[in-house]
Formats: sequence, C-alpha cells, structure tokens
Amino acid sequence: MDELLLIPGPTPVPAPVREAGSRPMTNHRSEAFARVLRTVLEGVRELYRTRQPVIPYASSGTGVLEAAVVNTLSPGDRVLTLSCGAFGNRFSRIARAYGAEVTHVEVEWGTGVPPELLEEHLKKADYRAVLVTHNETSTGVQNDLSALAGARGDRPALLLVDAVSSLGAIPLEMDAWGLDVVVTASQKALGCPPGVSFLAASERAWEAHRTARMPRYYWDMGMVQDALRQPLTQTPFTPAVSVFYSLEASLELIRQEGYEAVWERHRLLSEAVRAGVRALGLRPVADERWASWTVTAVWLPEGVSAEALVGRVRERYGVVLAGGQGRLEGRAFRIGHLGYVRPQDILRCMEALGAVLRELGVAVEPQAGLEAARRVFGARAAQAV
Ligand SMILES: Cc1ncc(COP(=O)(O)O)c(C=O)c1O
Repeated sequence: MDELLLIPGPTPVPAPVREAGSRPMTNHRSEAFARVLRTVLEGVRELYRTRQPVIPYASSGTGVLEAAVVNTLSPGDRVLTLSCGAFGNRFSRIARAYGAEVTHVEVEWGTGVPPELLEEHLKKADYRAVLVTHNETSTGVQNDLSALAGARGDRPALLLVDAVSSLGAIPLEMDAWGLDVVVTASQKALGCPPGVSFLAASERAWEAHRTARMPRYYWDMGMVQDALRQPLTQTPFTPAVSVFYSLEASLELIRQEGYEAVWERHRLLSEAVRAGVRALGLRPVADERWASWTVTAVWLPEGVSAEALVGRVRERYGVVLAGGQGRLEGRAFRIGHLGYVRPQDILRCMEALGAVLRELGVAVEPQAGLEAARRVFGARAAQAV
C-alpha cells in the first residue's frame, strides 16, 4: 500500500520533483549550478510577488524565522508579537532570545488575529517591528494578512511575516501589501524535501539591516546577497544542492498549473476537508472565518485518542495524519492539505477516517465524510477516485 502523506509538512514530493533531486551531485560553485540557483530564486520571487531579491538559506523554517529577526532588529527594540498558536509563540521566543523587548499578545487558539487588535496596540505604543504568522499550522488558522498590513498602515513598525505554511498555497502579495520580511521553507507548499528556506526583505527592511545590532553571522542576508551578486551566482555557504534541483522542478509544476489555480485548489481542498469532517460528526478547531486553506486541526471525538485514530488510519489505510500540537496535543489531530495534494487524496483520507471512527466505536455513517467531500469537489473528483 502506498503511503499518503497528509501532515502539514513535509508534504508529498511528486515523482518529477523526487527524480530531479536524485541527479548527481555537482560543484555548487559552477556555472551549471549558478543557473539552477538563478532559476529557483527567480521562480520563488514570482511566488512572493516582489521585486526584491530572494535570499536562500540551508535551513528549516525555524532558522529563517531567526534570520528575519536578527537581520532587522537590535537588542532592546520593542517588538509586538501577535500569536494565535505554537508557531506565533515560537517567533516571539526567538525575538526574546536575541534581546528584543517583546510584547506578546496571544489570541484564543482557533481564532485569528483581528486587524483591530493590531491597530489598538500600535496606537498605545511605538514598536520597531510586528511579528505575525500568516498561517498558524498548530490550529489551522489563516490570518487576514492583507488586513493586518492595512492596520499597520504607514506606521514605521516593520511587519515580519512567517509564511512557512502559506506561501505558494494562500494568496500573499509582498510588495502590494507592504510586507517587510517574508519567510518560507521548501517542504511545505513548494512540495520539496526539507532543507532550503527563503527570505525576502523590503527596502525598509534592508535599511534596517544596515543598523540592526543583534548578533548574526550565518543568517546575515547581506552576506548572502553579496555572494548571489557575484558574476558566478553562488551562496556564501554550501547550499542544499539536491533540494535546489527539486525546487527547480517543483516551481515548474506550479507555474504550469498556474499560481491562482494552485491557490484555488488549496481553497477547495480545505472546504472539502471541513465538509468531510463535519459530516463525520467532528468539529474543526478553527472558526469558519479563520479556516486555513492548508491545514485543518480537528477536535478528537469523545473517548478517542490521537494515537488510536492517527495510528489506525496510517496502519490500515496508509494515510498519514498528524497529532495535535502544543496545547492541542491529545485533544486534536491535523490533516495537512498543503502542496502537491489532489482531491482524490482528500477523498481517500475521508474514507479512511470514516472507517476508523466506526472501528473505534464512534456512531458515524462511515461514508458520510467521503460523500460530503465529493459533493464539494463535484463530478471531476468523483471520477478520479
Ligand atoms: C507556520 C510555521 N512556522 C514555522 C515552522 C517551523 O518550520 P521548521 O519545522 O521547518 O523549522 C513551521 C513548521 O511546521 C510552520 O508551520
């Protein structure tokens, strides 16, 4: 039985992307690799919707969150963190670890950050930066980033955005919305193995970089940009070469499908997941207003443990789901519908969930989730199964 990976990252890596990643190793300071590097950075820049250069790192998403902080801030800077879950809290802890004076505002898990809340705080005090998570992977909450950016308005506070589980899957317009730093990673919407992360900075953020005094070396975006600008485009440190090969292939797949079509696919997948779990008598953690297009956290039914549910769905049906995270551990499970996920994958997931819930003694109609999801997709997906 082939395994279907529906955790919120790493996400399924399609065959052409996997194959590209298995090409022979090469000299990372060669014209051949420089071409790959340029193609990938240009492709990612298109996804960011920015004119700014994209800075790559060999790291996971957490590393590049750290890069966002140390490249723009100084110890003692006043920073406002708007958190709605585990990853917002992590962003906050990173800023604190480097000596920022952090005001941590955490909304109830399952809801997003209302733009009015940001406005209220910015009226009360001056902040050097606002840290926000576009899509909170622990709760399945999607913030309205454009509204948050609007609430910041033309105040001087920099807007640093964790777009690790959103960029590529959920609309994001870095320049049009005036976002100052946006970071993401290869193993989410880009459908690649983990190992490469990206950062783009606005002109204001590059200006801040010149005077920022938090300690930095590996994360110094100026050093990366200098290396990229050499006649032979390169990175200052060894890049994750194979992941770049994969990125080149995956960006091509995304371009062929169309950026807006990819967003729409994610929106539809999330609608089908929510309809499916509801039809199985389950309840998503996120309020409908904040429902994420890339991950759905679902409350566990009474008397069913995450281990039993997630374990059985994997062992019996080959569908890999994630448990709850942070304070949702043991109370919820998560379905990732991010990256290279198709309607038929969600139908397979719903079929497995329905069957396992019934096996675990929950009074459900096992096919109800499958049917509800199928109705959302319409005839096209029904034929694909
Ligand atoms: C929103 C968000 N931020 C940050 C991270 C951290 O990324 P990593 O696990 O790659 O360090 C994740 C990972 O799931 C995430 O979803």
